[in-house]
Amino acid sequence: MDASADRAAGIQAGLKGFAAGPAPHVGMSKKPVQRTFCSALCGLPTMNALSSLSLFSLLSAAAVQAAAPPSEALKFFETKVRPLLVEHCQDCHGPTKHKGGLRVDNLPYLIRGGEQGPAVVPHKPEQSLLIKAIRYADPDMEMPPDGKMSDEDIATLTQWIAMGAPWPEAEVAGAKLGRKPGEITDADRQ
Ligand code: HEC
Repeated sequence: MDASADRAAGIQAGLKGFAAGPAPHVGMSKKPVQRTFCSALCGLPTMNALSSLSLFSLLSAAAVQAAAPPSEALKFFETKVRPLLVEHCQDCHGPTKHKGGLRVDNLPYLIRGGEQGPAVVPHKPEQSLLIKAIRYADPDMEMPPDGKMSDEDIATLTQWIAMGAPWPEAEVAGAKLGRKPGEITDADRQ
């Protein structure tokens, strides 16, 4: 074996070790996926190392996306944001009343929105109907209807959406998105 072949073998072994090492942090069972992936694609040992690597980066990307909001962000939500929604919006957009088809008591309801579509677009306050409504930007839709919130409150809600609208995962998982509030299905009519 000459020196370059030696190095190639070394790198290959290194790649394999690297790809296999971090797997337990990913939070998904990786082995079966890897096996199918490889039995389909991997003729050459080099391919094996490379595909493990790209599979690893795919899985890490998925893990990053599904990551829980950091506790700082959740604290901001609980202390600043949730009280505003409860105090100013929930009487008309809560578990009992869904004016405009909108509920504000869980993030998935806000993202789905009401009759006019999504109320919250995470990371994009300027595209979020909720922000437009609380800024009184459109005289036909001013929320809350009985008086504008303070500039500070509006800034807080804007910041929260800019942060990606953090909301506790356990609650988000419990959202019932089967249908829009107030929507009547064929099953109801029978
Ligand atoms: C007194 C009742 C009331 C309160 C309080 C209230 N809303 Fe509304 N909201 C309505 C009604 C009624 C509609 C339906 C549209 C209309 O008639 O203007 C609506 C519609 C909306 C819509 C549009 C929904 C859609 O897709 O059509 C948004 C967004 C909204 N409200 C956000 C808020 C937010 C955010 C708060 C709290 C800061 C809030 N509302 C407080 C009564 C209320």
